[in-house]
Amino acid sequence: MENTKFTVVAHGGAGSNSEHCDGTDEAVHACFKASQMDASLIHSVARAVCVLEDDGRFNAGAGAHPRENGRVEHDAAIMDSNGCFGAVAVLEGFNNPILTAEAVSETEYRLLAGKGAAEFARERKMAPTRHHTIPGGGKDFSTPPKTDTVGCVATDGATFVAALSTGGMAGAHYGRVGDVPIIGGGLYAGSKGAIAATGDGEGIMMKMTAYRAYQLIEQGGKPKEILEEVIGWFTPADAIGLILVTPKGLAGGSNRSMAWSSGEFY
Ligand code: GLY
Repeated sequence: MENTKFTVVAHGGAGSNSEHCDGTDEAVHACFKASQMDASLIHSVARAVCVLEDDGRFNAGAGAHPRENGRVEHDAAIMDSNGCFGAVAVLEGFNNPILTAEAVSETEYRLLAGKGAAEFARERKMAPTRHHTIPGGGKDFSTPPKTDTVGCVATDGATFVAALSTGGMAGAHYGRVGDVPIIGGGLYAGSKGAIAATGDGEGIMMKMTAYRAYQLIEQGGKPKEILEEVIGWFTPADAIGLILVTPKGLAGGSNRSMAWSSGEFY
């Protein structure tokens, strides 16, 4: 990656259909295009996540799975290697939760949840969704959909950024929050690289997955070896997927099917 100016990796979540990588391709290109229009790296990555949230085939934004009560609650987070972090949890009623997470990163706060997050999103004039209760709420989740969380990591050669957005676990208790807004759980970015995870949120956060993967980068690990090691921390019963970018290159993969794409732009 020595001469690479700009590297992006995007995923559509552990369990997403790998044939849907046209959606993750579009996200990668949206990230690069935003950067070409002078957006900051953090905003360029947020634009990529907006594409995935708007896609409708992934568990985030327009495609987010409802909770047991039929309502849709979003978690999202964004972090860069300059110490910027912002997240939302249990946010209802907005098209692109990642933009609210990005807006939180510009404040004195790091994580806003629930009604306070929604009020903040309204104050920031975020676009509302028309419906956030799924008709027929309280539906049968005995065989819940298993797709999970979208994400993007990128570097411009100087800064690293990681971002995630999710509707969370389909059919879970309302108010349940997974790994997505937990720094070092679902995502981490530092001067040596960026990681965005996807899969079973409780397991991901309890293993401090993203931060421990970052430590492997700091120890000089190669991206593909780190990916394999992290997947090995999980039993086959627990879904896990990861994308990462380091000065040594990039990797992506999951112990489930997963749409993911990368782009290196010179
Ligand atoms: N990985 C997303 C979640 O468990 O909520």
